Amino acid sequence: MSFLVNQDGYYGEFGGAYVPEILHKCVEELQNTYLKVLQSEDFKQEFDQLLRDYVGRPSPLYYARRLSEKYGCKLYLKREDLNHTGAHKINNTIGQILLARRMGKHRIIAETGAGQHGVATATVCALMNMECIVYMGKTDVERQHINVEKMKMLGATVIPVTSGNMTLKDATNEAIRDWCCHPADTYYIIGSTVGPHPYPDMVARLQSVISEEIKKQLMEKEGRDCPDYLIACVGGGSNAAGTIYHYIDDSRVQIVLAEAGGKGIDTGMTAATIALGKMGIIHGARTYVIQNEDGQIEEPYSISAGLDYPGIGPMHANLAVQKRAIVLAVNDDEAIRAAYELTKLEGIIPALESAHALGALEKLTFKPKDVVVLTVSGRGDKDIETYLELINN
Ligand SMILES: Cc1ncc(COP(=O)(O)O)c(C=O)c1O
Repeated sequence: MSFLVNQDGYYGEFGGAYVPEILHKCVEELQNTYLKVLQSEDFKQEFDQLLRDYVGRPSPLYYARRLSEKYGCKLYLKREDLNHTGAHKINNTIGQILLARRMGKHRIIAETGAGQHGVATATVCALMNMECIVYMGKTDVERQHINVEKMKMLGATVIPVTSGNMTLKDATNEAIRDWCCHPADTYYIIGSTVGPHPYPDMVARLQSVISEEIKKQLMEKEGRDCPDYLIACVGGGSNAAGTIYHYIDDSRVQIVLAEAGGKGIDTGMTAATIALGKMGIIHGARTYVIQNEDGQIEEPYSISAGLDYPGIGPMHANLAVQKRAIVLAVNDDEAIRAAYELTKLEGIIPALESAHALGALEKLTFKPKDVVVLTVSGRGDKDIETYLELINN
């Protein structure tokens, strides 16, 4: 059995493409095109060259000596925070803009939570001279305003969304609504392993460069190509999918996913979808969703805008159900503590999202010889105000 997508676009019972009639043609076109393009020589060449010369890949695999001592293992950090625009999101947007161009689409739309995907999309649109519209919940516009300014400077139109609790779910709803109104000329760059098939698989493939590099880098540093543990945070799941992609069917590797516990999974203020979600449909995919007894989606909460989402990618829901991955809920305060710890011990200020992956370390028990690779999905520049507010109060 493989944990990758099957021919029908499912991971076990999760996934599929549940879209309104008007989008059927667009989604079908994408399903019929994406593999041909992603596997073509000219795409691979252009993608690899941009990842190298524009993004700055390969991102380093850094041996974190002081953090290793603290947790009693050999801990490596995969430094996606060092990418151009400050997170892993750019890997995916470069791939999708190249696909959009090959499909003859000129108008690009995107949703964003933390703003990292919005900035990454605005960046590649500037690079390729394409129109860019980004939907972002008003709450996120306020808490991630530096990224909003960056998107505007890059030439994107940022549309604040005022429905729901004005976060990522609501921004995604608006982006899908826009797509329904402009199906012919618009390409929707989804920022995570969510949405209708083929998005989860396509985004995972575009992010899989992360584990491709980990394999080579571990071979150089440890003389073996697989770690004992892989750890990543999960909002929709793209940095985690990239981190585990080439190890997903390798049972020697333990996969640990950190979701956002918010103020605690039993407080009603949480985004811990694996812990609390029930099967439902969200943004075109069948997956776990945090919902009430009537099937209404509950408003999620996390201090981290990028993890503040009531759904989860179908790949990750299946990994959890099949017990291929351990899923831990990391609360706001645990993530903040872990962010300060990384900063003090290694001189690296992580994004709030990545801080949730770091917060999983204290919940695990390692043997001294264990090789652990943890993905630092983004840098903390966008979160400085939140970090400072917390320390000053
Ligand atoms: C730095 C960073 N890490 C992680 C995430 C979560 O997304 P995903 O689960 O798709 O990696 C985000 C989303 O905005 C992000 O900005």
